[in-house]
Amino acid sequence: MASELPHAKEPLIDHLTSKDFQNVYEPAQDSFLFIDSLQKDVDNLKALNPKIILEIGSGSGFIITFISQLLGTNGRYYMSTDINPHAALASSKTSDRNNANVDVINTCFIQGLERLKGSIDVLLFNPPYVPTPSEEVKEKGIVASWAGGVDGREVIDKLLPQIMNILSEKAFFYIVLVQENKPKQVISIMHSYGFQYQVVGKRKAFNELLYIIKFYR
Ligand SMILES: C[S@@+](CC[C@H](N)C(=O)[O-])C[C@H]1O[C@@H](n2cnc3c(N)ncnc32)[C@H](O)[C@@H]1O
Repeated sequence: MASELPHAKEPLIDHLTSKDFQNVYEPAQDSFLFIDSLQKDVDNLKALNPKIILEIGSGSGFIITFISQLLGTNGRYYMSTDINPHAALASSKTSDRNNANVDVINTCFIQGLERLKGSIDVLLFNPPYVPTPSEEVKEKGIVASWAGGVDGREVIDKLLPQIMNILSEKAFFYIVLVQENKPKQVISIMHSYGFQYQVVGKRKAFNELLYIIKFYR
């Protein structure tokens, strides 16, 4: 059944300037496909009734602010992390600009948030997925937005083994992958952890074939 909800508005990001986007990932085709896919999946998200929603690598805060507007704040807790301090600040500002309520933390993945393990009901990640030399993966500035190392998988592969401990039993985990990331391998790794998958978004953008994959138990 189609959603009866109106399409949630795109978050305002007019408080961020081109100078900010020298240090912070500017929402692009992957970010737009992500919010479109969440919008399409809104009935399942509502039925899930998530209490804790976390985005890892929130950049400008565009996606976490969008989902908070999509699902509403009543009884839900939204948080995001980013390894880049400029991005963490931008996410916080975007939340404020849109009267959202997102707690933003400047950290790697969920370091320091161990208390929340097993309780994340929705996890979102638009990772650095571009294949690059491995050395670039150590960067914490704007390069951390895209530098994915071998097959664009080095950051993704660090997160996957932690997923089981982060998520609640009922959780949905949405991730962006491109063809170069060998999505079938990622699906098979997640399968070995007991997760099924669904492709909730797919789009060709310039030279990238983008997928939004949803994993769930
Ligand atoms: C492709 S950008 C996505 C930004 C935003 N979510 C969007 O879709 O517009 C990837 C983001 O992940 C962050 N990031 C990279 N490695 C990370 C890590 N280990 N922990 C947390 N954030 C990370 C980058 O700083 C960057 O902001």
